[in-house]
Amino acid sequence: MPFKPRLQIVTHPRWTVPVPTVENRWDLLYSDYPEVYHEFESVVGTREKQVHEIFDLKEKVVLDAGSGTGKSSLPVSRIAKEVIGIDIERPMAAVAKRALKEEGADNVEFLLGDARSMPLQDGSVDVVMGITLAIYPPEGWRAFAREATRVVKNGGLIVVKAIPPGWYGGELDKVIADVNELGVVDAMFSKEFGFRHKDFYATSNYGTVEKMLRTYGFIFGKKAIDYIIDHRKTSIRWKHRYHYKIVKKPTG
Ligand SMILES: C[S@@+](CC[C@H](N)C(=O)[O-])C[C@H]1O[C@@H](n2cnc3c(N)ncnc32)[C@H](O)[C@@H]1O
Repeated sequence: MPFKPRLQIVTHPRWTVPVPTVENRWDLLYSDYPEVYHEFESVVGTREKQVHEIFDLKEKVVLDAGSGTGKSSLPVSRIAKEVIGIDIERPMAAVAKRALKEEGADNVEFLLGDARSMPLQDGSVDVVMGITLAIYPPEGWRAFAREATRVVKNGGLIVVKAIPPGWYGGELDKVIADVNELGVVDAMFSKEFGFRHKDFYATSNYGTVEKMLRTYGFIFGKKAIDYIIDHRKTSIRWKHRYHYKIVKKPTG
């Protein structure tokens, strides 16, 4: 793949080729390297629980906020009635549209839009999901919660899959030591928005050090790259948190 500017290049004495990285710049990943995100997200975790294995999405109209390259929308479309994916990044949505063509599903559409101001009518969907949707700055989650509550039907479900505090980059959180807002967002969901949560552990198997460097290493930066090479790592353990709430609206 041709690499564009703004990447950092990591060299390591025990690795013959330099390793490019966005060094935790997720905005850069989404705008310039959606294919790398798609490959990273295509690594299936052992014991990984997908949203439709935990919550009943059968025959539901589902809004997927932050649908990215389609990795969250397409599996759900196989059991849901309809899936509307919304993403703020055009390059991510372009990859999603290509993936949709390959899948051949006729009950999914991908829209360009902002999860803080959704282009949907009040009470028009059964479920709003955000699967590792990452809104920055974190105050934007308040607008998301308000909008999700507006567009979901009475008795509908809002579910957000997040990385809990202490698990940024999975088991390498302490190695990467990135300053992140996971604790702030976690507290918003539990204390401010009144969501409950369920936690799950999974292990992503990248198969080879090479593949782990060009996906996980590309995203999580120099400290992660050094650690992967030093320890010949090919897998990562994750903790995932599903924040969820059934929305009760005033009637009459
Ligand atoms: C980690 S990706 C998750 C993609 C997909 N849900 C998946 O599971 O693979 C986060 C996505 O959220 C999108 N995003 C971030 N802020 C957003 C916002 N305010 N409105 C809509 N999408 C947003 C990003 O562009 C990115 O595609």
